[in-house]
Amino acid sequence: MTLDPEHLVGSSVGPYTVEGLIGEGAFAWVFKGHRTDNGTPVALKVLRPVYAGDPQFEARFRDEFELTSDFNHPNIVRILDVGRDGETTYFAMDYYPDSLAGLLERDGPLKEDKVVDLARGVAGALEFAHEAGIIHRDIKIDNILIAEDGRALVADFGIARAVAGYVSATGQSMTIGTPHYLSPEQAQGRKLDGRSDLYALGVTLYKAVTGNVPFSSTDWFELARMHVEDPPEAPRKLRPDISGRLERIILRLLAKHPDDRYQSAKHLIAELDEIRSAARSTETFGLDPEAGGGGVMADGTRPKWLWSLAAVLLVVMVAIAVALLGRR
Ligand SMILES: Nc1ncnc2c1ncn2[C@@H]1O[C@H](COP(=O)(O)OP(=O)(O)OP(=O)(O)O)[C@@H](O)[C@H]1O
Ligand SMILES: [Mg+2]
Repeated sequence: MTLDPEHLVGSSVGPYTVEGLIGEGAFAWVFKGHRTDNGTPVALKVLRPVYAGDPQFEARFRDEFELTSDFNHPNIVRILDVGRDGETTYFAMDYYPDSLAGLLERDGPLKEDKVVDLARGVAGALEFAHEAGIIHRDIKIDNILIAEDGRALVADFGIARAVAGYVSATGQSMTIGTPHYLSPEQAQGRKLDGRSDLYALGVTLYKAVTGNVPFSSTDWFELARMHVEDPPEAPRKLRPDISGRLERIILRLLAKHPDDRYQSAKHLIAELDEIRSAARSTETFGLDPEAGGGGVMADGTRPKWLWSLAAVLLVVMVAIAVALLGRR
């Protein structure tokens, strides 16, 4: 069995042909590929050889696949099948050309409306999965894929749980996800609920607006301590042009105690939808959503329609005055 992923390029794995390596995670390689019979593009996640031969590891993967295989949501990456071909164990998924990690690497921090749209997509996926009783546990920029129409899709539902279960059942030491996104309760080994994913989404959004994660250290124990104890620097210190509202959302997601975060993805969605509809009315009427309907533009000037309204009122008032004077 080869230890080099490049050896799989050009070969077939089950009903798929492997085209090229996209990336590598802790326990798998991800390739672009296509269905050999009809050319449909797919992403193939192939377990690293060290895990592929381990029946316990495979069994946990298959169980998680069963749990999430009927997930059908526009913001969740669809898993097409799990299979084994000789010594190769693989997942086939829909292929997406970009990820939030790739987008940030190329373009740097994103504009506010883009961040809000992506957050809305991820929150939709989390709401759906949490209602089905599944916690993701590894929300991060690499697990958020971007479709050609700009839609965010969350990948790897259930996988972190399979790995965590394997680690605790076998005592194998293995890296689960990245410690930069660990919620304080994850860092402390406490019981998790969906609010842990909301914390990781907070880290993701912080990175999307500032370019950096809120806490970083090369020492994992120190990093875990920071998640538990240290307040994050306010995003607007690093990125002054984002709104106070987006900053408040990010900081609320990053609250140390789950009770101080949004209590469910649904609550977050309600707030994001409000921002999006306020932004739409700004586009239509030139109103600043943060100005509380006072008719002041973001740059402090009044919108044109307000001047027109004032002019019409003035004309009406003059007409009334003239009419009254005429009666006398
Ligand atoms: N369905 C997909 N379509 C396109 N690219 C994908 C797909 N799934 C994963 N990738 C990309 O493949 C790379 C490796 O993914 P993988 O899930 O193995 O690792 P990871 O998410 O970076 O980290 P880890 O799984 O170790 O926590 C990532 O850059 C990811 O964006
Ligand atoms: Mg991944």
